[in-house]
Amino acid sequence: MKFDIKRVGVLTSGGDSPGMNAAIRAVVRSCSYHKLKCVGIYRGFDGLIENDFITLNARAVKNIINRGGTFLKSSRSSEFRTKEGRNKAIINLQKEKIDALVVIGGDGTFRGASVLSKEYDIVIIGLPGTIDNDINGTDYSIGYDTALNTVVEAIDKIRDTAHSHNRLFLIEVMGRDAGDIALNAGIGAGAEEILIPEQKMGKDRLVESLKRSKKSGKTSSIIVVSEGDKIGKNIFKLAKYIEENLVEYEVRVSVLGYIQRGGSPSCFDRVLASRLGVGAIDALLKGERNVMIGLKHNKIVSVPFSKAVKGDNNLDLELIRVADIMSI
Ligand code: F6P
Repeated sequence: MKFDIKRVGVLTSGGDSPGMNAAIRAVVRSCSYHKLKCVGIYRGFDGLIENDFITLNARAVKNIINRGGTFLKSSRSSEFRTKEGRNKAIINLQKEKIDALVVIGGDGTFRGASVLSKEYDIVIIGLPGTIDNDINGTDYSIGYDTALNTVVEAIDKIRDTAHSHNRLFLIEVMGRDAGDIALNAGIGAGAEEILIPEQKMGKDRLVESLKRSKKSGKTSSIIVVSEGDKIGKNIFKLAKYIEENLVEYEVRVSVLGYIQRGGSPSCFDRVLASRLGVGAIDALLKGERNVMIGLKHNKIVSVPFSKAVKGDNNLDLELIRVADIMSI
């Protein structure tokens, strides 16, 4: 079934990620290409509730493909979780005559969109935008590649000082529920150990492994810890434990934090965002609704929201093996 779509709203929601601007640009320009009107909604679902809209044409999104963050701004809206909040959003959508919404964000964004679509007959298309890469149904989310490059660059710098002082560094990276950033950046930066939520490693096993690598001649060590990992949950306590049980090393902690969310998007993220944005409008015009547009095996795919939300993270076990072999 096809829908008569005339006005498309676009918003970014949840944690921002590099490439969101490129995705907005792609949605806006695809709308222009197909002669659809496009309305930008500021501050995610908060802007929808507060009627914070702006009309966007192809020229309104010039000079943003290279910029990190999101010019439409983002929020984690608590009001949208309430029925009252969503009712206000619906009134504004009706007033603006918006008949389709493109929401760019992560798991929480798609959950919010799903609830809205059950209460109000509107077509919603999602684009995966999060540095965590923890969305099912797509191999990559917008911003993940840039974040990986930021992390590897930071670890390379830390490695210089770790090596100079014969120190062991625990480096915490983002990924509340997923170890994708830790695992891939850990391999890319040559880490000795990588702690991720998907694979349990006890503190004792960690110390034993570090002792073995010390014996094999290593003078410094890099351990990448995903923020979602359970034994690394309090990274400073973990550092203390290692120092007490591995007296050969001075231990230091570096929490990379929000630098991982910023910066100019990588070429990969810009191309991904452009393809997904075009895919979103193509899907709308084909009559699809309540799906996320993702990339699987380098092909654009549509995934129902119910399948796109976080689930068991399909982390590639082969990568864990590669990391183990590389850290011998
Ligand atoms: O964008 C995802 C993420 O970076 C997580 O890894 C992290 O736990 C979370 O966002 C923190 O973001 P905020 O402080 O915006 O809630």
